[in-house]
Amino acid sequence: MTITVIGHGYVGLVTACVFADFGNDVWVIGHTKEKINRLKKGDPIIFEPGLSELLQKNLKAKRIHFTLDYQDAIPHSEVVFIAVGTPPKTNGEADLSAIYTVARNLAYNIKKPLVVACKSTVPVGTNQKIAIIINRYKRTQARIFTASCPEFLREGSAIYDTLHPDRIVIGADSKKSIDILIKLHQPLNGKRIITDIASAELIKYTANAMLATKISFANLISFYCEKTGADVETVLDAVGLDQRIGRVYMNPGIGFGGSCLPKDISALIQIGKQLKIDVGFLKAVENINNHAAENFIDKITKTVTDGKIGVWGISFKPNTDDIRDSPSIKIILRLIQLGYIITAYDPAAINNAKKSIKIIKYVNDPYLAIKSAKALVIMTEWNEFKQIDWKKVKQLMQQPLIFDGRNLYQPATMKQLKFRYFSIGRKPI
Ligand code: UDX
Repeated sequence: MTITVIGHGYVGLVTACVFADFGNDVWVIGHTKEKINRLKKGDPIIFEPGLSELLQKNLKAKRIHFTLDYQDAIPHSEVVFIAVGTPPKTNGEADLSAIYTVARNLAYNIKKPLVVACKSTVPVGTNQKIAIIINRYKRTQARIFTASCPEFLREGSAIYDTLHPDRIVIGADSKKSIDILIKLHQPLNGKRIITDIASAELIKYTANAMLATKISFANLISFYCEKTGADVETVLDAVGLDQRIGRVYMNPGIGFGGSCLPKDISALIQIGKQLKIDVGFLKAVENINNHAAENFIDKITKTVTDGKIGVWGISFKPNTDDIRDSPSIKIILRLIQLGYIITAYDPAAINNAKKSIKIIKYVNDPYLAIKSAKALVIMTEWNEFKQIDWKKVKQLMQQPLIFDGRNLYQPATMKQLKFRYFSIGRKPI
C-alpha cells in the first residue's frame, strides 16, 4: 500500500519506518529542507535506539521517501497519517495550528479518495474540524474518510512499542477507513479497538492521564513515607502485588517529564474547563508532580548550602536525548538560581541541554562531574549509573554525599559504603 506520514518526530518517523519495513511504500512529508535532506541521507535526527538502522535499511530498499512537497506524496497515497506536534500553549491548551495547516495542505493536493488518520494527540472534535477544513478547501470531488488512530509508543522503546502494541485503536465513522486501517495494521498483534472518533481521541488523553496519575500517586505516598519513616519501595511493592493495582509504572522520583504526560495533563485540564467539568483531580496530579521536584530540591538545599554539585542525568528518562519538560532541567535551573555551581553529565542529552542551559559545565564522564563536588545529584536512571566504582567516587568528591532522585541504590549498601544518602520516600542514611 502507498501511504504518507506527515511529520517525522518520534511518532511520525517510527510509524513510517515500521510500515515501510512491512513492505509498504511510504512517503514522509516535512517542512524543513535541512531536516528532510538529513533524513534522505539516513540520519533520523532524533535519538531513538534502532531507528537509524531501520531508516537506512528501508531507504536502501527504496520503500521510504522524504519530501517537502505534498504533491509528491498525496496523489499516490491511499492513507495519510497526521503525526505533527500539538505543543502546549501558554495556558496549557493544545496548540492545533500545525494540524490545521496540514489539513489545508492536504486539501489542495487530494486527487483520489483518501483515508486521513490522525496519530497526533488531539482534543475531542479535532478530527471533525480536520474533515471540515479539507472538505472546504478540496479542489476535486474525491472523498476523504477521517479516522483517529492514536499512538502509544514511548521514547526510548519506540520501535519495540510500535511492533508490540497492547492495542490498536481505530476511531472512524466509515467502513472505508476501518477496512483500510485494519488491513494496514494486519502484521501487528494487539487487541483491535474499533470505535467512534470521539472515543478514540479521548482514549489517548485518558491513557496518559492514568499513567501520570499512577506516578503522582507513587510520589504522594513517598511524601507520606518521608514524614512517617515508612519505606516507599516496600509499601508500593506490597500494594502492587494486588493484581487490581499492579506495580508497573508506579515508581516515585522527581516527577514525570517528557513531551507527552505534562502536556497532555494540562491539555485535558483545559478541555475539562471548557466542558465545565471539575478538574480538581487532574490539577492534583499536576501539583504533586511539581511538588516531587520541589521536595527533592529542599532535601539538597537543607543539607548543602552552597558550592559545587555534580549532576548525573539530564534527559527526562533513560535511553533518550530528549530534555523536553525534563525534571532534571527544572531542578538544575533552580539550583543555579540558588547559587550552586553545577557540573553535569548525561550519556546522550548534553548537546540538547547545551541549547537550553548555557551557564553550567558539561563533562563526558560521570566521574569528572563529581570532582571536588560537595554532593552528587542523580536525576535520570541510566543503566550506566547502576554499577559504579564507589571508591573512586569517594576519592573524587569533597564529601561522600548523594541525592538519588530515582531510588537507584539500596540504602543499606550506601550505608556500608559510608555515604550520606538521600533518596525518595526512604529514610536518609
Ligand atoms: C508516554 C507514554 O508512556 C506513552 O504511552 C505515550 O504514547 C507518550 O507518553 P514517554 O513520554 O516516552 O511516553 O515516557 P514514559 O516512559 O511514559 O515516561 C514519562 C515520564 O514519567 C518520565 O519522566 C519518567 O521518568 C516518568 N516516570 C515513569 C516516573 O517517574 N515513574 C514511573 O514509574 C514511570
